[in-house]
Amino acid sequence: MSTNFKLKHLLGIRELSADQITHLLDTAETFLDISKREIKKVPALRGRTVINLFFEASTRTRTSFEIAAKRLSADAVNISVSTSSVSKGETLLDTARNLEAMAPDCIVIRHSAAGAPGHLARVCNAAIVNAGDGAHEHPTQALLDALTIREHKGHLDGLKVALIGDILHSRVARSNVYLLSKLGATVSVAGPGTLVPPEFAGLIEQGVRVERKLEDAIVDADVVMILRVQRERQTEAFFPSMREYAVHYGLHLSHLSLAAPNAIVMHPGPMNRGIEVSSEIADGGRSLILDQVTNGVAVRMAVLYLLAGAGKQNGTKRTPAGKNGAQEKKERSGKLFA
Ligand code: NCD
Repeated sequence: MSTNFKLKHLLGIRELSADQITHLLDTAETFLDISKREIKKVPALRGRTVINLFFEASTRTRTSFEIAAKRLSADAVNISVSTSSVSKGETLLDTARNLEAMAPDCIVIRHSAAGAPGHLARVCNAAIVNAGDGAHEHPTQALLDALTIREHKGHLDGLKVALIGDILHSRVARSNVYLLSKLGATVSVAGPGTLVPPEFAGLIEQGVRVERKLEDAIVDADVVMILRVQRERQTEAFFPSMREYAVHYGLHLSHLSLAAPNAIVMHPGPMNRGIEVSSEIADGGRSLILDQVTNGVAVRMAVLYLLAGAGKQNGTKRTPAGKNGAQEKKERSGKLFA
C-alpha cells in the first residue's frame, strides 16, 4: 500500500507534498478501527523499537505516541528529561548517539529548540519524528487536526479555517497553516498584534489573512481552531493581562453565530478554560477536542507504520509479521488489519 511513500523522517509539514499528506491521512484512517476493538493490537511493528525522547512537558502527545507504538506491537521506551543524562550535562547529540547504539527503529523527539529533530535526523539512522520543536513545527498535531476535519466535513479543500490566539509561539499554528494551504483550505488568523507576527501573512505562497479581531477571522469559518496562550514561552508581556486577553480573544458561544452553519471548534490542548475558550464551547456540541485526541493515536500509528514498518522508505519492503494470504487480500482491498 505504501511503496511510493518516500519519507525517512517526519520533521515538519512544510517539506511534505499534498500527496504525502493525503497518504498519511488515508493510512491513519485505516488504523482508526483498531482502537475501537476489544483487543487493540496488531502485529505490524512487532520486533521494532520506538524511543520517545521528551524534553518538554507533555500528557497527550507522549501518551499518544506510546499507545500508538504499543497498538502496533512495537517495543516503546519513554525517556523524559528529568530521567535522562541530559540533566547530568550530556549534549543532545551524545544522548542521540547513545540511543542509536541500541538500534532503535524510530526516535520520537519533543524539544524546546526549533530544529532539534532535524539535527538528529542528520546523524541518526533511526527514523526521526518531530513531536514538537520550539515554536517551529508539530506535524502530527496538524495531521490529527486534518483527520478530524476530514472526518466531519469530508474534505479540506475550499474550507475556511480560523486560527485564533498565540500564533507567535505556536508550532501547531505553523504546521496547520502549511497543511491546510497545501490541501486547499484558506486560513485566517487573529490574535493580539504582539502575538501575530506580520511575516506570518507571507509564510506560505498562498498567503494567510491576518485579522486583528477575533470576530473578523471567524466570519463564515467552517472550522475554528483555538490556540493556547503559551505563557511558558512568553519572555515578555505580550498583552496587559489574562483577563484582557479573555475579553478580546476568548471564544464564546455567541461568536459562533458569525461562523458558517455547523462550524466545528478545535483546540490542541492543554486548554486554559475561561481564557482562550469558554467551558460552554469546550464542552458543547460543536467541540471536537476529544475527537482530536482519539484521532491522534491513529495518526501516530500511521506515522510509525510508514516510517518504521512496512512502508519504510529505505531498505526492502517489510511486511507486517504474521501476514498471510487473507491479510494480503485485505490490504489490497484497502481494509488494513480488518
Ligand atoms: C501543543 C504543543 O505542545 O505544541 N499541545 C499538544 O501537543 N497537544 C499545543 C500547546 O502546548 O499549546
